[in-house]
Amino acid sequence: MKITVFSGSHKGREGNTLIMVEEFLKGAEEAGAETENIVLTEKNIRYCRGRFECWLKTPGVCTIHDDMDDLLPKFMASDIVVFACPVYFDNVPSVMKNFIERLAPALLPHFEEDDRGEYRHAKRYEKYPKFAVISNAGLPEKANFEVESLFFRRLTRAFHTELIAEIYRGEGEVFRGQKNIMLKPLIGKYKKLLKSAGKEIVENHRLSEKVAEDLEKPIVPPSLYIKFGNEEWDKLIKEYQKDEK
Ligand SMILES: Cc1cc2nc3c(=O)[nH]c(=O)nc-3n(C[C@H](O)[C@H](O)[C@H](O)COP(=O)(O)O)c2cc1C
Repeated sequence: MKITVFSGSHKGREGNTLIMVEEFLKGAEEAGAETENIVLTEKNIRYCRGRFECWLKTPGVCTIHDDMDDLLPKFMASDIVVFACPVYFDNVPSVMKNFIERLAPALLPHFEEDDRGEYRHAKRYEKYPKFAVISNAGLPEKANFEVESLFFRRLTRAFHTELIAEIYRGEGEVFRGQKNIMLKPLIGKYKKLLKSAGKEIVENHRLSEKVAEDLEKPIVPPSLYIKFGNEEWDKLIKEYQKDEK
């Protein structure tokens, strides 16, 4: 089984989301999956020009030649694609949206009705990868993932596939405290859950209720996260201002 993660943090390999991805992939690899994590900021991906040339002029192939020449075949050759990104203003970051828009050649232009009586573009290929989402938000509440969750559900429908897991981590900046003596065991526990999630996705193509439920629990009480978070912001502002002088 091939799992490809498309990682869309603008911080590239420095991001909190990447910590989540790494643990998830450890579990997936232990369960026997072949995995690849593609960091989108390291790729040259130009904007879709919106002319439908991939549907009209060169059917199934984009007329822009950049790193998507390799990434679209990798996307299609995967059994599971994981979209991994932070939340930026309640939505996916632009690097992720840019990548997703360039997936258009994988569909046909023609409209067809789905089983709910709603229209979408028809399939170009018989089979599409299953989708999963890993996302990280700085704020604590689940509401911060509402737009993303709806977006990925709609994208799944557009790509004639299934959304087999949504892993949303509020309080996402907690990972910055990985070396903190109090936070280390709590983060360690959450990382174990991510590993179990990776394993379950390979073995069952779904998350068990227990793992899904435990993944949603706060790592630290939200009131403490906000208190220490604000103290950390003050400290960082002071440090940056001092360096500027
Ligand atoms: C431009 C921008 C917008 C953001 N918007 C939100 C937001 O709407 N809700 C939220 O909870 N966090 C928001 N964040 C915080 C990030 O989601 C958070 O820092 C996350 O941990 C970053 O993940 P990364 O390290 O993988 O990039 C935003 C961050 C940036 C830079």
